[in-house]
Order: sequence, then C-alpha cells, then structure tokens
Amino acid sequence: MRRYSKVIGTGAYLPEEIRTNDHISQTVDTSDSWIFERTGIKSRRIAGPDESAASMAEIAARQALAAAECDPNTIDLIIVATGTPDRVYPSTGCLLQQRLGIKNTVAFDVQAACSGSIFALSIADQYIQSGAAKTVLIVGSELCSRIVDWTDRATCILFGDGAGAVLLSASDEAGILSTHICSDGEYEDLLYCPNPQAATEPNKDETGFIRMRGNEVFKIAVNTLGQIVDETLAANNMDKSEIDWLVPHQANIRIIAATAKKLRMSMDQVVVTLENQGNTSSASVLIAFNEAVRDGRIQRGQVVLLEAFGAGFTWGSALIKY
Ligand code: ACO
Repeated sequence: MRRYSKVIGTGAYLPEEIRTNDHISQTVDTSDSWIFERTGIKSRRIAGPDESAASMAEIAARQALAAAECDPNTIDLIIVATGTPDRVYPSTGCLLQQRLGIKNTVAFDVQAACSGSIFALSIADQYIQSGAAKTVLIVGSELCSRIVDWTDRATCILFGDGAGAVLLSASDEAGILSTHICSDGEYEDLLYCPNPQAATEPNKDETGFIRMRGNEVFKIAVNTLGQIVDETLAANNMDKSEIDWLVPHQANIRIIAATAKKLRMSMDQVVVTLENQGNTSSASVLIAFNEAVRDGRIQRGQVVLLEAFGAGFTWGSALIKY
C-alpha cells in the first residue's frame, strides 16, 4: 500500500502594519491605479522591527500544530523555506526548532525563492513516502520588505511579509498525489538578490536589494507555469476538470489568471490573496492554502493544485487530495 503525506494542519501569520499603494506613491513615482491594474495588489503587510523570519514562522507553525492537535515532539523533520533568514546560519529551521522546544529532530532551510514552499513539500513527501519521516512541519517565512529597495518603483510595489505553515503526517489515505519541481540557473540575472558580503568582485552589488527584469520574468513565468500544470495532470492521468482548487504563488493577478485559463478554471476556484498581501515569496502559497482551508472553501477530499515560480528560475507544483 502506498504511504501518503496527508495535510493534518495549516497556519499563517501576517504582520500588523498595512502599507497601501497610496502610501508607496508618496515616495516613488507610481499610483494606486497603475499598481492595481498591472499586478492586482492594493496593499501589503510589513513586519515590525522586532519581527523576523523565525518569529513569524513560530506563530504560523503553532497554529498548524494546534489545528492538528499535534505534540511538537512528534515532529521528525522541520523544513523552512526562506530567502530572508534571521542568520546565514544556524538555519531558520534550527531557530524554529528551538522556539518550539523540540529536541531530537532534523531541521534545515530550503532556498528556492518564491518556489521554496513547493520545494519543501516535495522534499517532505519524499521523506514520508520512503518511511524516513512520519510527521513533517513545513513553513515558508519571508521578510521581503527588508530586501526591497523602497526607491525602486519596479520592485517595491510587489512584495510583502508573512509566514505560512503546513503539517504533514504519514497516512494510508490519499494526501499529496505528486510533486514536480525544477530549476534553471541560466536565468540568474533576470531576478536576484545579491549577498554583498559573499559576492565575487565582478558581481559586487553593495545594496543587497532585489533586482528584477519584471517583464521578461513575467513572460517566462506564464509559459513555465502552463507547462508544469500539463506535466502534473499527465503524471496523475487526470483531466483539468478534476481539480477543485488552484492555489497559485501570489506574484501577479495576470500570471494567476493565465494559469487558471489554461486549466479552464473559473477565478472562483482560484485562491487569491495578493490584493491585500502582495507577493510574500516562499510564504505565499502556504498562506493562501491556509486561508482557504480555514474559511471552508477547501474541503476534505477535494483536489488542490499548488504551484509557484521564482528566482533561479525555480518552479514547481504539488497536487494534493486534501
Ligand atoms: N509605477 C508606474 N510605472 C512603472 C512602475 C510603477 N510602479 N514600474 C514600472 N513602471 C513603468 C516602467 O518604467 C515602464 O515604463 P516605460 O514603458 O516608459 O519604460 C512601464 O511601466 C512598463 O514596465 P514593465 O516592466 O514592462 O511593466 P509590466 O506590465 O511588465 O509590469 C511587473 C511590471 C508588475 C513587475 C510585471 O512584469 C510582473 O509582475 N513580473 C513578474 C514578477 C514575478 O512573477 N516574479 C517572480 C516571483 S518573485 C521571486 O521569486 C522573488
């Protein structure tokens, strides 16, 4: 009998401060209407000075643990997806482990930019299917506001802060049906965040801020996400009509709408959170998934397609029977 990874709990955290498009247009040459029409974003959350990837991850993780009524000490693997770790090391996974008071477990970070939580789901599923782990905590946690150049109107309008979590447990019942992940480092210059302390001289960029050639990223994202959807359906011998919910990475409403169109899905079957959250990078898919589980849209037994695309480029999908 196949051993599945079943979702037993979800959680999320969004910081209190709301930064609207109007607020941003006071400091850079942009407008609420330009941002909303091109991206679908109206506002985003900004973490306070005392908050970090680990502190936000802890809140989201505790919610997921409470939802599953799970004792943290039964977790045998913690994977945190983040591009904004508190420290280069120890990993945010280790910091989260310590915050949750868990001993004798494995904890590490995954760095796959906006696709991070899909990569984490894929790794977790391999651990569970192979029998190497039974209960896995996955968290995507991002402080994008700290790596955004607030004077660059092409990027500062897009990003927000937050964390999302999912708890998986080994089960005989269907759970994750398949995951598909891929990377192509050829596109490293279209979207990147420099690390000034470690970069070689020719690549020196002292800012440490996100740099993006948005229009080129946009086109590749739309095509690639279309392909991953086809690959996922084919691998599961499934028809588009069998998918109940699409939970996409929240980068741009036009990218999301293009994927929904490819699946012939109405936007009513698509979970969209970016209007009031912006792009929270690796956290976005898990925050959206949590929202739709908690408000009752996603029901037990339904088929949910999670997908993401990000810097690298990296991309991936996870097809889940919830
Ligand atoms: N306000 C007003 N004008 C702007 C703004 C702004 N905030 N930003 C750019 N413009 C201008 C540009 O300067 C340009 O002007 P020009 O024609 O005079 O040169 C014009 O608007 C059009 O610029 P484009 O970049 O072509 O605009 P586009 O329609 O592509 O929208 C956007 C830009 C929203 C960034 C879009 O390209 C996008 O969403 N890209 C994909 C982002 C993404 O998916 N990233 C991957 C995940 S993120 C991660 O992994 C970390």
